[in-house]
Amino acid sequence: MAASRALSALLMGLLAAAALPAVRGGGRAGRVLALIEADGLRRSHSQFFKGLEAAGLEVDIKTVGEGGLALRSYDDAFYDHLVLFAPQATELGGSITKSEVLDFIDRGGNVLLALARGASDLMRDLAAEVGVEVDAKGTAVFDHFSRQAAGGAEDATLVASAAWFDSDALFGGAARPEGPVLFRGVAQGVPAASELITVALSGEATAYSHDPKKAMAEPPALPVGGAAALVSLVQARNNARVAVAGSLDMFANEAFDAAVKLADGSKSFTKSGNRAFALAVALWTFQQRGVLEASAPRHRKVGGEAEPALYRINDEVEFAIDIFEVNGGERKPYGGDDVQVSFVMLDPYLRQPLVPAGNGTFSLRFTVPDVYGVFKYAVDYRHAGYSYIALQKVVPVRPFRHDEYERFLVAAYPYYASAASTMAAFFVLGWAYLYSPATTK
Ligand SMILES: *[C@@H]1O[C@H](CO)[C@@H](O)[C@H](O)[C@H]1NC(C)=O
Repeated sequence: MAASRALSALLMGLLAAAALPAVRGGGRAGRVLALIEADGLRRSHSQFFKGLEAAGLEVDIKTVGEGGLALRSYDDAFYDHLVLFAPQATELGGSITKSEVLDFIDRGGNVLLALARGASDLMRDLAAEVGVEVDAKGTAVFDHFSRQAAGGAEDATLVASAAWFDSDALFGGAARPEGPVLFRGVAQGVPAASELITVALSGEATAYSHDPKKAMAEPPALPVGGAAALVSLVQARNNARVAVAGSLDMFANEAFDAAVKLADGSKSFTKSGNRAFALAVALWTFQQRGVLEASAPRHRKVGGEAEPALYRINDEVEFAIDIFEVNGGERKPYGGDDVQVSFVMLDPYLRQPLVPAGNGTFSLRFTVPDVYGVFKYAVDYRHAGYSYIALQKVVPVRPFRHDEYERFLVAAYPYYASAASTMAAFFVLGWAYLYSPATTK
């Protein structure tokens, strides 16, 4: 009995160990906790949740404040991804607090955060913690030109924008949205110098963010056009992702199904771009898009053994690395051509683009500089929308050994000549001194 229990415990352990190496983003899609602020969102946003399920994610929808909410038990995470569709919530419930959500991100969890006009301080703080500054409480995004006019809507806060981040990292090579994205909510400011944030959707040139209850300053100092970010994508240094969307309505069925007619009468579309865009943002956030997997950095001496323990100065060497892009379950060679490798000893002595072979292998041949010491290969790749690659490999470089120098250098012939002439002169002088007849006085 005890033996069989021990055996089953061992088997469970083995199974758990076998399940562990599942690489994030590769194959396993993951478990999503969706926290919604009202039960009605299950119905009003059902197409969005269905879209996540169709992409292979397990979606667990819970209402804010429900009993027993938790993201983890000790180090055991219950979820890989978190959807926060509760812009007005002042607390989330259970053990989920602001610091718990930030901790979740620190552990590599991904969060999709949707805001709305008048979002709670909790939600604003969460956005601010990842570097996205949400505009003041009473403000909303307005656009009197690029806005929805279908169905006679006279509402300048239902803006339509096609100013999205046009990248395969976000759309995964799939078609771009066919119509503009309908958006009703708040704008965000993203510091221009921010390395970690990409604006996925911004306002059209005529959009601005303003609180109509307040007088407009003169001259106006408002986030306008491209400076009014509507959806921002944050990728933390640990490759965890957070998307901050200024609008909860953009994920609703109503927006997914809406036809769009722009108020300036210039264009109309039978379908809004919301479905394609919202799902692209969610799938990007949940590591199903734009994930790079780098493996096997390796180096060798040209014509020599692989991974030598030591290089000699001026050796010709080759460095190679495999980089694949994973979109959902699909793995294909990464097509970028801007991956660089540096050969660093405190300072980079060499930094050059790696040459893609087309099958995922990137390599470079170069000559080790004429300096010895402990060098390392460093690949530090950050391309907007893609996960970061930061790899290092240490390799020492030694000087020539005493017997590795060339024997007779052309440049040294004058020195050889001078040594030989000194010897010859000594011989001649000695001979002359010894054998010249002695003179006596
Ligand atoms: C790509 O091709 C090169 C040579 O053609 C080969 O050495 C390398 O292993 C290949 N890489 C992959 C990942 O198959």
